[in-house]
Amino acid sequence: MVKPIFIANWKMNLTLKERVALAQQIKDDWGKNTDKEIVICPPFISLVQLAEIFKNSHIKLGAQDVFWEETGAYTGEISPLILKEIDCQYVIIGHSERRQYLAETDEMVNKKVAACLDNGLTPIICVGESLEQRQRNDSATVVHWQLNRALEGIELVDNEQLVIAYEPIWAIGTGRPIEPSDAQEILQVIRQTLIDHYPLTIVNNNIRLIYGGSVEPDNCADFSAVDYLAGFLVGGASLKMELFNQIVKLSFS
Ligand code: PGA
Repeated sequence: MVKPIFIANWKMNLTLKERVALAQQIKDDWGKNTDKEIVICPPFISLVQLAEIFKNSHIKLGAQDVFWEETGAYTGEISPLILKEIDCQYVIIGHSERRQYLAETDEMVNKKVAACLDNGLTPIICVGESLEQRQRNDSATVVHWQLNRALEGIELVDNEQLVIAYEPIWAIGTGRPIEPSDAQEILQVIRQTLIDHYPLTIVNNNIRLIYGGSVEPDNCADFSAVDYLAGFLVGGASLKMELFNQIVKLSFS
């Protein structure tokens, strides 16, 4: 069985001090655990401090974005090389909030995925439909298209890993998650898209599918039973230690 992964997306929340305190608590509670993989994605400015806290523990660090060039005149950007230097292992790419507010395109997502893999970072590729697209019955088409574009020209060799996060936009931060059976349908589409791109052994061993969108302690166990699901991308509930603890404890057990 693949190891379940719990990715905390802190987004633009908490102060520097609050992030340090929460990271310390997470390390105390989960730092020795090896059954479940925990990845914390704070804002860029907290990565260095958190890397120090998580040193010598099993908690991993992720960034919420990355630029596709390694170095140069790109004001305001952070490169995969810099992330690697501070012991970051994962990068969230193409989150719907970046697509919506920062005009991130499928082409940019694709370049970022390539840049991550070239630099030994694991991309967490976010895909998902809007409410309007769901109501038009276009969810499968949208997700298939986004994933295809994200993976264009991307090869996976040896132990290179990918995480694909299915995040229906209308379920993010709304307290209204998708029905697990509806998630199942889209995960099947995602899996088939992956099988069209890669050999089955790579799909089974190197790629994990996760769900994000209002994951809470009271729904995580139901999602754990969904075929091919291997983890969660948790936003709001990852900011509260008891909620995050419950989710990690109750899921995939
Ligand atoms: P949420 O966010 O858990 O607050 O819905 C999930 C995400 O955006 O990754």
